[in-house]
Amino acid sequence: MSQEILNVEKLCVSIADKEILKGLDLKMGEGETHVIMGPNGAGKSTLGNTLMGKEEYEVTSGKITFSGEDLLEMSTSERAKKGLFMTFQNPIEVPGVRLSEFVRSSCEALGNKMSLWNFKKAAAEQMKVIGMDPSYLDRELNVGFSGGEKKKAEIFQLLMLKPKLAILDETDSGLDVDAVRIVSEGVKAYQEQNNGALLIITHSTRILESLNVDKVHVLYNGKIVAEGDGSLIDEINENGFEKFMKD
Ligand SMILES: Nc1ncnc2c1ncn2[C@@H]1O[C@H](COP(=O)(O)OP(=O)(O)OP(=O)(O)O)[C@@H](O)[C@H]1O
Ligand SMILES: [Mg+2]
Repeated sequence: MSQEILNVEKLCVSIADKEILKGLDLKMGEGETHVIMGPNGAGKSTLGNTLMGKEEYEVTSGKITFSGEDLLEMSTSERAKKGLFMTFQNPIEVPGVRLSEFVRSSCEALGNKMSLWNFKKAAAEQMKVIGMDPSYLDRELNVGFSGGEKKKAEIFQLLMLKPKLAILDETDSGLDVDAVRIVSEGVKAYQEQNNGALLIITHSTRILESLNVDKVHVLYNGKIVAEGDGSLIDEINENGFEKFMKD
């Protein structure tokens, strides 16, 4: 493994006093692409939200280090500054804030202050990668965006913010065939442009077809119950999760 970027050890997480993650272990190296698969309700989004530091997710025990530093000691914005990023299963709409303002101020918060001219130039370049018209920059964040447009807007943010580790929570769900291809090209560009690490949560494996996957983890009932290489995806597609569901 390359230099370690993420190490989750025996993580237990509760929401509203219900234990969702029950001793989860996960290790990732810099620039690696890992996939998390698992049945609905297994705790995949919970893991992502916990890594991002969303407050309703209570870590009851366990450890998380990010580039060797204790992640659990950091606020949500500190985590973002350190290079963590997540796309959401259901991106929120933010009326009154334009996509351009949102992304430019996020870049600035991460230490990449750009003049409006430079920002627009960089934005247009990245939008081209994912076939997004620059006119979206002037629209309010996600307001009235179609499902696919919201996902593209997130990949646009990924390309602009260049995090060290991006967690993609079902970025490919609800996308048409062409949109999946475009989004996966965007994700590939992120990998190539900055050797960024990826944790991809997905049910459909179409987005993975053009990406190099280093490791696949199966999350069931709050734990990683199996790990393997890309061939595990084919096995799950063929036989489902039943094999892993022994408590
Ligand atoms: N805010 C919350 N309040 C109460 N229960 C929650 C909350 N968030 C998640 N849960 C519960 O935690 C469990 C795991 O949810 P999670 O969203 O992590 O599953 P998932 O693996 O992402 O599933 P899916 O594949 O359907 O997206 C579910 O039973 C869910 O109902
Ligand atoms: Mg989920």
